[in-house]
Amino acid sequence: MKKMETIAIKSGKGGCDKTTATINIAAADAQLFNQKVLVIDTDGRGHTTSMFKTDDTYRYQIGDVLMGRVKAVDAILPTKWSNIDFIGCGEEIKDDLKELEKKIFMDPMHRLGKILDEIDALRIYDRCYIDCNQDPDLMAVNIMLYANRILIPARSDDYSLDGLSKMLEWMSQVEGVRETPLQYNVMITDKERNKESDDSITKIHTLSQDHLCRTFIRHQAKVVQHSSKDTVKIPFVLEKKLAGVAEDYIELVKELFGYDK
Ligand SMILES: Nc1ncnc2c1ncn2[C@@H]1O[C@H](COP(=O)(O)OP(=O)(O)OP(=O)(O)O)[C@@H](O)[C@H]1O
Ligand SMILES: [Mg+2]
Repeated sequence: MKKMETIAIKSGKGGCDKTTATINIAAADAQLFNQKVLVIDTDGRGHTTSMFKTDDTYRYQIGDVLMGRVKAVDAILPTKWSNIDFIGCGEEIKDDLKELEKKIFMDPMHRLGKILDEIDALRIYDRCYIDCNQDPDLMAVNIMLYANRILIPARSDDYSLDGLSKMLEWMSQVEGVRETPLQYNVMITDKERNKESDDSITKIHTLSQDHLCRTFIRHQAKVVQHSSKDTVKIPFVLEKKLAGVAEDYIELVKELFGYDK
């Protein structure tokens, strides 16, 4: 098996569809393209965790692994979907990161790299997807140093443009410290047909150049309903109800990994 590829979904803006993208890209990759996938939640609000957590076997979160309390393998849990495992995250992560910042002997900026090596050595996973928050925190530094690729979701509005600019700036700051160049792609997650959003898309294109994915994800009101607390949550790429947006995500996965070529 070749080395595991780690893809982080991050933006400098909140609410631009990071979690939705993480879950659906991971699910498509695992279930439709037969890749063995690990999803790591690193956002203390635990949105991805609440999607994947099935019962009370959830004991350890990514902060426990970062702090060296448990090994990565002890925090990995199965989901109800074949080919998808996950490591969860809860609000304790904030305190863990504060503690970790003080522990220079633990190489705080490099902990994730060691954890990903540990997971790769298991020779189980083809890909690891990391759902992120929007902050430039210690976790972000770890992620930008050790992910192979960053996927930056952007909506076609000026706030998202700001989030994208921040990400590009942060990534340029870690570029000199990385051993290999950081690959990244920008994906538009709310393809709308109106003049204002066309202007924003032009601006996003100017900023991203050839890093912009050809496949745009359409905005579909039903997605919000699907994500509400009372609905049974499943990755919608696996569900026919949201056929339009599901098709877009599947196309995007094909584009990202060159499937069907
Ligand atoms: N293609 C889409 N069409 C319509 N609504 C969408 C689409 N994708 C995501 N949403 C909705 O947008 C909202 C934000 O999505 P999501 O939680 O994935 O963003 P996020 O970037 O992870 O947010 P946060 O910064 O809070 O973690 C959710 O209510 C979600 O259901
Ligand atoms: Mg999120």
